[in-house]
Amino acid sequence: MLVKWTKDLELGVAFVDADHKVLIKLLNQINDCIDQHEESTIVGSVLEALVEYTDYHFRREEKMLEACGYLALEAHMATHRHLSAQVRKIYTDYQTEPWEISPADILAFLKSWLVEHIMGHDFEYRDACVGNPAAEKLANELSFFEQTEQAPFSDWANLRIMLVDDNPNFRRLINTLLKAVGVRHLQLVSSAREGVAKLSQNPADVVLCDMVMDGMNGIDFARELQTMNLSTRVIMMTGYSTDEMKDRGAGLSIQGYLEKPIKARSLLESIAKAAV
Ligand SMILES: [Fe+2]
Ligand SMILES: [Fe+2]
Repeated sequence: MLVKWTKDLELGVAFVDADHKVLIKLLNQINDCIDQHEESTIVGSVLEALVEYTDYHFRREEKMLEACGYLALEAHMATHRHLSAQVRKIYTDYQTEPWEISPADILAFLKSWLVEHIMGHDFEYRDACVGNPAAEKLANELSFFEQTEQAPFSDWANLRIMLVDDNPNFRRLINTLLKAVGVRHLQLVSSAREGVAKLSQNPADVVLCDMVMDGMNGIDFARELQTMNLSTRVIMMTGYSTDEMKDRGAGLSIQGYLEKPIKARSLLESIAKAAV
């Protein structure tokens, strides 16, 4: 583990601490993926999630600081912009030339910016914002992704989701992201067979399913679900192109397709769309 969450990192504003914990979890997951020489679509998915969650966290924090009337807001926003750009650069460099990047450098940088951000910049606004529930409420109203009028969705706490994926690091990432937005009913399974067996006992509203797995693949899984007459909606994910997936899934009831490395926003948008 690269950074361990301790009481010293706690600032005293619930959503800020929760966000910081998510960011630290993602950082540790990148560390584990790199350690295990994980394939680049998985490392890419986790890096992408870190970039997106960083933006989301900064937006929420700035909303709260503005509502508190924090005097150094402009300077704080400038540090956010700077950090955001650096994290994004790491991700795009990794995307373009993964073999040219030293994992140790990525991790050292991510660790230092995260600790610098939390212990350095954020602790400076502590006195101005702790104990201001109105400001916290405003920040909490921001959504992780753009909600469309056709498909507004916020009931993450009651949505039942299953993830079927044979990669443990990917399951961990999805677990972190979904829990971060408030999902409480989440089944994580490592094979399609296990998914079929579990769904007959514990139904799910939405299933995220990996396309390529040993044994039963995603398409056979979707076919099997149709014979079971479940109202479950299926979102298919793969490292291959979505066009190829769509061809293979033609005729089956599949609500959405996602390409790996996945984007956290697209993932949540697809689930929200399938859920309404
Ligand atoms: Fe922060
Ligand atoms: Fe901050």
